[in-house]
Amino acid sequence: MPAERTLPVAGSNSTVLVFADADAAARAAADRIARVVAESVAARGKAILGLATGATPEKVYDDLAARVAAGTLSFRDATTYNLDEYYPIQPLDPLSYRAYMHRLLFSRVDLAANRAHVLDGTVPEEATAEHAAQFDRWIDADGGLDVQLLGIGRNGHIGFNEPSDLSVEGFAARSTLLIDLHPVTRADAVREFGSLEAVIPRALTMGVRQILGARTVVMLATGPKKAAIVAEALKGPVTAAVPASLLRTVADKVVWLLDEPAAAELG
Ligand code: GLP
Repeated sequence: MPAERTLPVAGSNSTVLVFADADAAARAAADRIARVVAESVAARGKAILGLATGATPEKVYDDLAARVAAGTLSFRDATTYNLDEYYPIQPLDPLSYRAYMHRLLFSRVDLAANRAHVLDGTVPEEATAEHAAQFDRWIDADGGLDVQLLGIGRNGHIGFNEPSDLSVEGFAARSTLLIDLHPVTRADAVREFGSLEAVIPRALTMGVRQILGARTVVMLATGPKKAAIVAEALKGPVTAAVPASLLRTVADKVVWLLDEPAAAELG
């Protein structure tokens, strides 16, 4: 499905493709992931994928699962690393991102269970730093991510890298870590948890270093609630206060896939 239009964004060499609707944008994301799998497996015998959760990528996973069922895509040679996980949480808790990934993708494709990595919400708190460091070492040992699928929080977060007062350089270099969720993120999570009190207020998240280090980054943003932050990330200052704005520091390898409502404030 070709993009309806390619949007030039003044002062940014980011590729921004706008689609008629969210389904078409999701299909384009699945196309790109499937292409990276094929090309990486052909070149290196393996494909290392960074995956995202949230409502936005659900259709991407439906599409990828349909391709596997149709025999046009295989995860046989793939390894996956998810961006984030609530902390603490049990993997069998239906609200965990491990459970989300199992439901949406892992149970539907031919991916080896021991190559589907999700940060572990059960490690003792004293061991979270070592667990996070180990997660980065695994990705590094795999040669880094071939592609990272991203969504964007309404506050500009990527993964659970929340707005920060770090310098751009410090934020860009940050490793995987345990963080406190931002009030906007907690408010948005009421949708899944049912009430603000029930929202787990912390999470483990892949750091910005690994995200920006991916060889391709696919940012998928759909719906009117994302319009303001998409415009801010693409046209405002590059600052850790708007985490997704750091994607402009590696713009050549980033593609933004938007539907019309999410692109509404880009002009
Ligand atoms: C979630 C996830 C992010 C996701 C973002 C947007 O909390 N941790 O990885 O991109 O927030 O979510 P949604 O797609 O549901 O709007």
